[in-house]
Amino acid sequence: MDSASGVLLIFLFTSATSLLNAHEIDEDNFNVMDYGATSDDLTDDSQAFLEAWDDACSASVESSRVYVPAEKTFVVDPITFHGPCYASTINFAISGRIMAPESPSSWDGGDASQWLGFKNVNGLKVDGFGFGLIDGQGKGWWDQSCRYHPRLKQCTTLAPTALKFVSCNESSVSNMKFTNSAQTHILVRGCNSFSIDNVMIESPGNSPNTDGIHIQSSQHVLITNSRIATGDDCVSIGDHTSNIEIENVECGPGHGISIGSLGRGGNYVQVQNILVTDAFFNGTTNGARIKTWQVGRGYVRDVTFQNLLFNHVQNPIIIDQNYCNVRNACKEQETGVQISNVNYKEVLGTSTTDIAININCSRSVPCFGISMESIQLLSAEVGKQVTANCSNAYGEEVDVVPGPCLLD
Ligand SMILES: *[C@@H]1O[C@H](CO)[C@@H](O)[C@H](O)[C@H]1NC(C)=O
Ligand SMILES: *[C@@H]1O[C@H](CO)[C@@H](O)[C@H](O)[C@H]1NC(C)=O
Ligand SMILES: *[C@@H]1O[C@H](CO)[C@@H](O)[C@H](O)[C@H]1NC(C)=O
Ligand SMILES: *[C@@H]1O[C@H](CO)[C@@H](O)[C@H](O)[C@H]1NC(C)=O
Repeated sequence: MDSASGVLLIFLFTSATSLLNAHEIDEDNFNVMDYGATSDDLTDDSQAFLEAWDDACSASVESSRVYVPAEKTFVVDPITFHGPCYASTINFAISGRIMAPESPSSWDGGDASQWLGFKNVNGLKVDGFGFGLIDGQGKGWWDQSCRYHPRLKQCTTLAPTALKFVSCNESSVSNMKFTNSAQTHILVRGCNSFSIDNVMIESPGNSPNTDGIHIQSSQHVLITNSRIATGDDCVSIGDHTSNIEIENVECGPGHGISIGSLGRGGNYVQVQNILVTDAFFNGTTNGARIKTWQVGRGYVRDVTFQNLLFNHVQNPIIIDQNYCNVRNACKEQETGVQISNVNYKEVLGTSTTDIAININCSRSVPCFGISMESIQLLSAEVGKQVTANCSNAYGEEVDVVPGPCLLD
């Protein structure tokens, strides 16, 4: 038995036990079917979901559960599940499929930035038991995106995030699949201690702004054992984040695992203690990326990228401290986000561009404490050479090909 099926057995076992428990003490299990949800895929079930949530959230029990049954599909309009709740643990068990309405018009007059949201909830465990699916049906939004259809008169820059967690503690998402979000698939903001484990995210490589996971203003976030294929960053780490760990993640297609972009509005950036380990990048535009705007201030520090494998990646290792949405359109500034103590070790693979390592720091706020060890990056084209290009970057390197390029 491989470890994945072992893990699955444990899930099946634990879900079976909690079903039994739910039967004994019925008042802590809230099945959306009991609230009138219809599993034809036309009728909007958002009221049933909200009522099941309200009862689960207010039940005077230690732990309660909302249940979305297996082998059924529910169409749900944009909704937010609000806390705080009475129970200290709320299980949101999604064994079936939840689909967004097909047409962007379902958001008319509402908040176009999100579809499903959880706000002010602690101890929330969203679990798909290996079957749950959240389908953003993003095509209607992609077809009117300004990014790809700038000449369309009513093109949109804002589209709904599929699942948004705002202001939470000790919460998680696990064992489920996300597909075709209109924009970001999972967003975590203002959360402390959040884990994402065994999720699969799948959207077309050419879908606009469809980040896999975006983290903002959060601490102690763990992303493990997941596969992300999408049209934008597989994982993007925003401002006010610390103690973020990403382990055993596969990315591609997509734009890589990115810290940033940061400091766009000239704000004071605070990002530290980021670890990315055991990652595989397959056919992505970037691999391990840090990007900051020159007008930004503050810092990005103590970042480790370790044990990475690249297959046909355009920019395997890249720091761009001169980030600009339009190439070379941003004037050189005296300011910059200080980037320091960034470690790259045990990195292997192939680059599809000539520059496999690109550490591009600013003159005014150089990068320091960059360390590289045991790196071997080759051209994806047999016989071609790749280079390491560094500007204003200080640090040490041992056993690095191509290189050396850092200043000491
Ligand atoms: C999460 O914990 C922090 C620190 O204990 C607290 O300030 C915050 O209100 C909590 N968030 C929620 C949604 O309860
Ligand atoms: C990498 O991606 C390509 C194109 O999607 C796919 O055919 C290939 O199987 C992937 N490689 C691995 C090792 O997953
Ligand atoms: C570094 O950034 C500057 C400013 O954006 C750009 O002109 C230059 O081409 C970059 N260098 C590399 C090697 O990418
Ligand atoms: C990158 O480095 C190579 C070798 O040092 C150099 O020839 C090339 O001009 C550099 N490219 C850029 C864009 O800076």
